[in-house]
Amino acid sequence: MKAFVVHSTFVSLLAWITLTFALPQAGSGTVTAKARAATSTARSNTAAKAAGKLYFGSATDNPFLDEDATYKAILSDNTLFGQLSPENAMKWDATEPEQGVFTFTNGDVIVALAQANGQIMRGHNTVWGSQLPSWVSDSGFDNATLISVMQNHVSTVIGHYKGQIWDVVNEPFNDDGTLASNVFFETIGPTYIDLALQAARAADPDAKLYINDFNIEGEGVKATAMANLVSDLKSRGIPIDGIGLESHFILGEIPTTLQAQMEAFTALGVEVAVTELDIRMTLPETDALLAQQQTDFQNVVSACTAVADCVGVTVWEYTDKYSWVPSTFAGQGDADPWDENFEMKPAYDGIIAGFSS
Ligand code: XIL
Repeated sequence: MKAFVVHSTFVSLLAWITLTFALPQAGSGTVTAKARAATSTARSNTAAKAAGKLYFGSATDNPFLDEDATYKAILSDNTLFGQLSPENAMKWDATEPEQGVFTFTNGDVIVALAQANGQIMRGHNTVWGSQLPSWVSDSGFDNATLISVMQNHVSTVIGHYKGQIWDVVNEPFNDDGTLASNVFFETIGPTYIDLALQAARAADPDAKLYINDFNIEGEGVKATAMANLVSDLKSRGIPIDGIGLESHFILGEIPTTLQAQMEAFTALGVEVAVTELDIRMTLPETDALLAQQQTDFQNVVSACTAVADCVGVTVWEYTDKYSWVPSTFAGQGDADPWDENFEMKPAYDGIIAGFSS
């Protein structure tokens, strides 16, 4: 009887090994979970700090924090993440849904979590053409009224969330380097940027004030326009401390001039940060795509490591489970360094290698 038990256990073990490792490799070209996993034992925020950076961080959002304890526990590990960005909780539609009525509940939850975990907050964002309540976007406010509405919003939100790094102005440019059309630009003109930054500085003199945009990560007309704006702001004494490089990249298309562009920005006397990193692939995922993604994450992080005034790297959600990518870019996804089951992907090894370079 005893021999039978041993034998049957052995057979079960053999079957498990066969199913887990042999079958997927032999047949369809699919891979085992093991082949997709990261191998590094180093911790991403610890590695960032060892590289002289302030943080490695992640965006987060309230529904996921409320509903998913595993998600929250990993996010709260400050050896992995030293910084949080609110994906939506501090945007205008969330914080001032009705004129003069401010709701800080969701943002406060994220700030409290960051404080409990000893993590830095990046506030995101106060003035942007998207995610505006209709009372702002469709108001038909005249110039003077919209200026005062915008100043009141910036000073109330940043006054509430003091002591942070802030994306004060978000996505001000079109890809051709002209200023993007939004209710602030159309009504107030280009000085809306000056006024927003001045209101932010007045609300919290200690906050680091950023302008954040995408497609400025490599040399080109949009990056040049950002550099020209920042040098113009500085020459006129308008407060500006940093440029955020969103870094929503397509796999295999990391700009080769990323480090050079970071250096061009920091030469203006501001810091830079990688603020919304993800690297999306056309699904389905394969081993080759995951390997390319590892290389791409390494290249982005090593560019930041190489530039003294690049202060940190933030991924726009750490897990594929909650990425904004699949619902935004049809057929694309798996853009984050942890998979939907919270396993670290090869991309994670790329991050660690990037901070070690
Ligand atoms: C995205 C969020 O991730 C989504 O949840 C939301 O529905 C839309 O906005 N650039 C930015 C971010 O600056 O605020 C955007 O976040 C992604 C693109």
